[in-house]
Amino acid sequence: MKKNYLIISILACTVLFVFSCKKDTVAPAGPCTGLTITINSSQSAPTAGQSNGSITVTATPSGTYTYSINNGAYQSSNIFNNLATGNYTIMAKNADGCTSASTAVTLSAANPCNGLVITLTPVTTYADVCPTANNGSITLTAGGSSGYTYSKDGGTTFQASNVFSNLAAGNYPVVVKDVNGCTKSQTVTVSPNPGGVNFNLVRNMMISRCGNCHFNGGSDGGVNFDDKCNIVTKWDRINTRCVVQTTNTMPPNPLNSTDKRIITDWVNAGHRYID
Ligand code: HEC
Repeated sequence: MKKNYLIISILACTVLFVFSCKKDTVAPAGPCTGLTITINSSQSAPTAGQSNGSITVTATPSGTYTYSINNGAYQSSNIFNNLATGNYTIMAKNADGCTSASTAVTLSAANPCNGLVITLTPVTTYADVCPTANNGSITLTAGGSSGYTYSKDGGTTFQASNVFSNLAAGNYPVVVKDVNGCTKSQTVTVSPNPGGVNFNLVRNMMISRCGNCHFNGGSDGGVNFDDKCNIVTKWDRINTRCVVQTTNTMPPNPLNSTDKRIITDWVNAGHRYID
């Protein structure tokens, strides 16, 4: 029996010894422990429908990394080229094999209007006056892109033709739009016809010679010439009273021969607003 006690004691001591000598089983800290690799990326947007975009990856902390896109093989370059629009996942791995979190990057198509300069050159013709007519026009010449359509109402409606006709005098917010919807806007003025040379010589002479009796609100004899069209309408009375002078002379202090000639030239040219 003493022998059994001895064996048991030895076993017990052995067990105690083993336990007391057993080393700490917690693994030593590895190179990835406590390390957070962060990815930043910049991108060059692809043209719509083309695979010409790129993603450039920057991993921190600084170190030597390899990079993977969409869980593909790791490469040493931090630039992924020839990418179309879409969603990508990027990872970086350092020299110890520690990886970053998988990071999502979305490549959107480049705005086709960025950096595009569309030029717009308008040419206008007058809207007639006396009688007033909606016969002005705007012709737009666009450059810098292609596939244009044109608007004269600020972009509410567009037409294929670059010519707008039958316009009243006024300001038109024109817009040209290219094939990608990129636009150029400009306000274009259709001016009233400024009148012909002969007409304006007559009118200017009258302003100085017929004065407040017929301008600036004056309407002696029921005639006011502030409205340019009244000069056109009354051409015969002006000629009769100022040049032919078969009735009382107008103005009361008669015109000299030079001023009469101005009226005669206009009458002979057709006595119109545009002569
Ligand atoms: C000092 C004021 C005065 C001046 C200046 C004057 N008028 Fe008159 N005008 C009158 C008066 C007053 C009448 C109405 C009496 C009459 O018909 O003689 C009249 C009438 C007229 C009439 C309408 C009668 C018609 O025959 O049809 C015309 C046209 C006219 N004038 C043209 C002219 C023109 C053109 C000038 C300038 C080149 C002019 N007048 C300068 C005072 C003036």
